[in-house]
Amino acid sequence: MRAMSCQHYSQHEHGAKSFTVVMPKITFGRGCLAEIGVRAKARDFTRVALFTDPFLRNGPYFETAVNTLQASGIDVAVFSEIRIEPDDNTIIAAAEFLRDGQFDGVISVGGGSTMDTAKAGMVYALYPAEFTDYFGPPVGAGKPVPGSLLPHIACPTTSGTGSECTSVAVIRINALNTKFVVGSPHMMPSEALVDPACTDTLAANVVASTGYDLLCHALECYTARAYAAWDYIPEPNSRSLLQGSNPWSDMSARAALEIIRNYLVRGVNDQTDCEARDQLMWGATLAGMAFGNSGTHLPHAMSYGITHLMDNITTNDYQVASPFVPHGISVMVCAPAIFRYIAEGAPQRHLSAAGFLGANAKDAIPSDAGEIVAEELIRLIRRTNGPNGISGVGFNVEDVKDLAASAVRQSRAIQNAPRVVEQQEIENIFTSAVSYW
Ligand SMILES: [Fe+2]
Repeated sequence: MRAMSCQHYSQHEHGAKSFTVVMPKITFGRGCLAEIGVRAKARDFTRVALFTDPFLRNGPYFETAVNTLQASGIDVAVFSEIRIEPDDNTIIAAAEFLRDGQFDGVISVGGGSTMDTAKAGMVYALYPAEFTDYFGPPVGAGKPVPGSLLPHIACPTTSGTGSECTSVAVIRINALNTKFVVGSPHMMPSEALVDPACTDTLAANVVASTGYDLLCHALECYTARAYAAWDYIPEPNSRSLLQGSNPWSDMSARAALEIIRNYLVRGVNDQTDCEARDQLMWGATLAGMAFGNSGTHLPHAMSYGITHLMDNITTNDYQVASPFVPHGISVMVCAPAIFRYIAEGAPQRHLSAAGFLGANAKDAIPSDAGEIVAEELIRLIRRTNGPNGISGVGFNVEDVKDLAASAVRQSRAIQNAPRVVEQQEIENIFTSAVSYW
């Protein structure tokens, strides 16, 4: 069997010959959150574990979820001890809650932290292990999740994470002071209810940060190493869904980038612009469909140190104690410097992506690609009042070595980049990401 024929996906000597797409059943539209009860009933749920966060627990989305589940005759037990950036303690507590609860289904209502806690909690509830066992090397033993989890209906309330249609969870490991990805095809939710009305009340800063996350998911997928350039793995069940770019992720990523082009600035700057907020929610789901089946690369790999090494940053509009850098901002602050450097590894792809984002790349030559993408990203950051590089979130050149040492542990994501980078190149990129204007 040959890999799909086209220049980007041409067969490598020992490369993968196929790619796999895994997706939940997805319902998208205003008001669909109220369908939770009926949809849970259709799955024969009788008693569910409902995951949400402490702030949403006092709000209308949680109330809708509980009311419709109870109206369908389903017992509900709630786990809401979820912090933004869930850590190993959160997951262990979630696993204990699940283990004791006699549940036949799981429902999550919240952002990426909530959905990821539900996914990872199920792994450790059903298949207890040393905490790092299911994480990839060099942090963990890289053991596969042994089998199926409970059926999971995921309901995102922010327009960025895409976690409702990915098979990964991002968890902070306290002893290592950073976040790592745990992933398995078994962690893919069974169903997603994506209701953009949940984003109507989000503050501008939150829409900007989650929008940066969706933008980077899409741009990283589109520019990722081709699946055919990863080594062929004979055993199909051992293959990761973080498998590199492929025609499926290209299609979803392109659509998501075009949504960013048309709606990010509008959605951030006008809370009443429902069209823009609906589109951003759809873009987040599309970008999730993309990265859940291809994997991200350097902007995400380099974001984790930023999230966990900062100590003096205050962020408005998030209900969480500072110091705190929202995930989307931590991903975006290095992105211009990253793409400026790595575009050389796949210039045509970067020129195409820049065009989807609205840049005029028609007459550009391959060596312009990095600069064109970087300028487009900086333009979007400035139009949405984002921070000016890593100095905008409290870092400077003295921090570069520590940031790079943290990033370099994200080996799978780093290998998914279109250009080979090692610790020295990562240091150089952080240095050039200190400020952009
Ligand atoms: Fe992300």
